[in-house]
Amino acid sequence: MRPLAGPPPDAEPVLILGGGLMGLAIAHQLARLGRSATVLSRRRSEAAGFVAAGMLAPHAEGLSGPMLALGQASLERIPAWVARIEADSGLPCGLRPCGIVVPFPGAAERDAYPTAPFGEPLDRAGLEREVPGIGPAWRAGLLFAQDGQIDNRRRLMRALERACVALGVRFEEGTEVLELLTAGGRRLRGVRLRRAEGGEHTMAASTAVLACGAWSGRLLPELPVHPVKGQMLSLQGPRASLGRVVFGPGTYLVPREDGLLVVGATSEPQAGFDDGLTPEGQKQLQTGIAALLPEAALWPPMERWWGFRPGTPDDAPLLGPGPIEGLWLATGHHRNGVLLAAITAERIAAAITAAGSGTDVAADALLAPFRWDRPFPAAA
Ligand code: GLY
Repeated sequence: MRPLAGPPPDAEPVLILGGGLMGLAIAHQLARLGRSATVLSRRRSEAAGFVAAGMLAPHAEGLSGPMLALGQASLERIPAWVARIEADSGLPCGLRPCGIVVPFPGAAERDAYPTAPFGEPLDRAGLEREVPGIGPAWRAGLLFAQDGQIDNRRRLMRALERACVALGVRFEEGTEVLELLTAGGRRLRGVRLRRAEGGEHTMAASTAVLACGAWSGRLLPELPVHPVKGQMLSLQGPRASLGRVVFGPGTYLVPREDGLLVVGATSEPQAGFDDGLTPEGQKQLQTGIAALLPEAALWPPMERWWGFRPGTPDDAPLLGPGPIEGLWLATGHHRNGVLLAAITAERIAAAITAAGSGTDVAADALLAPFRWDRPFPAAA
């Protein structure tokens, strides 16, 4: 497909640092706007976009304030965003607007939930109707019919990558960015990198997007991004055994169309970048399954895996211009990366293509609360 508008294809490409969901989504959107992009990616499999459960859950996650507004804006855009990816790639993304049920021990906890006004209140009978077989401890719930899920791990990431290739995005796999190079510490002039075949190189660039997820702070230590490890597993359930996502405290169940049940997730900031599964983490998930949907404890296990969410001190992303001119930030999405990919791609690509045209990107009301240098709560 030809680029739709913008500068000629031989304009200097935007360097996308990170080949995860944010990097791909922004590269895809830039390509749709007629800007060429090159994605530098160290190891695709470590991207949080491959690890996440794919919930689209601004309401079930109980977001509030600007995060809720950003999440709702992204949720609204997701059907059209997915349709564009599917059209450009020819691949399905597995979007399932199936609704999410949040169960509670009682009505008081339900009514105090931050997003309760956006959900349908359920009593025990309502819970049993929406989640047949739900554990006996849950007496109340909220149904967020507007929330849903997408099959990020098996479908979305592959489709997005194919869509990028179809629109002419270039990829350099196995490439680790070691350093941002600046002119006088103020303006971006390129990156120093190491390629898989060895050797260090420099690549010139005046515009780049930092989308390195949990690793973002390694390139730019002033960014308050830290890894929040999550362990997960999947089970094979009967097809259509569970219609809704079930979002319990500490454990959630995400049923795919074919009966695969994705179960998440631990939240282990103290683990840093420690690789691997732990008995405690896996036990937390098993206990959560038994409490939420006892029959699922007997379903055959399929896979177990872990990954690193990019956390920030206020659990909200860092979006917009970075501390170096020409460097844009799209990182720190913590628990909501899949949800926020659509709005992040739209707004960051729009800001990049508008840069230099006199448009004031700081005036973007959705992005303004997510500046990297906003005041953060002090560490506990
Ligand atoms: N979005 C859920 C999680 O990060 O575990």
